[in-house]
Amino acid sequence: MNPIARIRETVRTGEPPRTAVPPGSRPTETTPVPEAHRDRVQAARTASQTVVSLRNTAVRLDGRVVWSGVDLDVRAGEFVSLLGPNGVGKSTLVKVILGIQQPAAGEIRVLGERPGRANHHVGYLPQRRSFDPSLCVRGVDLVRLGWDGDRWGVPLPGASRFTARGRAARERIEEVIDLVGASAYAKRPIGQCSGGEQQRLLIAQALVRRPKVLLLDEPLDSLDLPTEAAVVALIDRIRREEEVAVVLVAHDVNPILPYLDRVVYLAARGAVAGTPAEVINSETLSRLYGTPIEVLRASDGRLVVVGQPDAPALHTDRHAAHGPGARDDAD
Ligand SMILES: Nc1ncnc2c1ncn2[C@@H]1O[C@H](COP(=O)(O)OP(=O)(O)O)[C@@H](O)[C@H]1O
Ligand SMILES: [Mg+2]
Repeated sequence: MNPIARIRETVRTGEPPRTAVPPGSRPTETTPVPEAHRDRVQAARTASQTVVSLRNTAVRLDGRVVWSGVDLDVRAGEFVSLLGPNGVGKSTLVKVILGIQQPAAGEIRVLGERPGRANHHVGYLPQRRSFDPSLCVRGVDLVRLGWDGDRWGVPLPGASRFTARGRAARERIEEVIDLVGASAYAKRPIGQCSGGEQQRLLIAQALVRRPKVLLLDEPLDSLDLPTEAAVVALIDRIRREEEVAVVLVAHDVNPILPYLDRVVYLAARGAVAGTPAEVINSETLSRLYGTPIEVLRASDGRLVVVGQPDAPALHTDRHAAHGPGARDDAD
């Protein structure tokens, strides 16, 4: 076994790889594990816990540096929120992780590979697009595209119904539709589903291939408050049940605050990551954005960030200003 295959096997099983034992020779299970091997196992385990890492990364679009000096680590199973004002480059960062957008500088690893190489283990919900009410594609078809869209195109009705792979696909699609609670409306045209129902189906689509990393770009945008709360609780349940790391781009941290392991605030000159208390405070954000920023805590525990360039509006303002399907993204 070559050294790379040996480390991969060690990461996968946590055990030293088994080597073929010649017939008649003694079994080797009592052989002590060498010190150097134990170190390699430990190093491999630590590395395997980081599912996304960016080191000193920068992005340039149309000749303009959008952000630079960004360091970021996402660990297995974590719930991380990516925050920052409009236009700062949050969607761009998600695209860099996916390998859709090339960085101008820096070192990026996604599940130990270059961005794009491990995308079969990455679920992605792009920033909200509205569906035309007359669109006749059903929710279940949309979810199926998450399974086979990029390999087979739009599946023909009934295609591969009798193969093992077709059965596995159907079972998994049913499972994720059930997981997101969309069974009652999955066969309805997607354009006729409500914003919250569409969002659940899109989350199911991102989940269908059992990703290890789920990138959700503003999944709460333009949802009403009860739906928003239900979708956040759903994402957290999925994270635990499917053991997937979630990176959720948000405009307003408050709905996700109780669930978060860490937040990342993005700015043109870098990013800061830490627990919400470590990052969302006046001192840290003022330093990051180079302008006085005040973080206030309302009596109900919500955080209000005041003075940030294009500061996220208060919850109520945001919902008044955005109709269903409204876009405020810059991409
Ligand atoms: N393809 C592109 N070409 C040039 N500029 C772009 C492109 N996509 C986004 N931008 C610009 O990059 C900046 C960051 O955009 P984006 O990542 O969408 O921000 P956010 O998601 O934080 O609102 C914005 O100023 C936007 O106008
Ligand atoms: Mg965006």
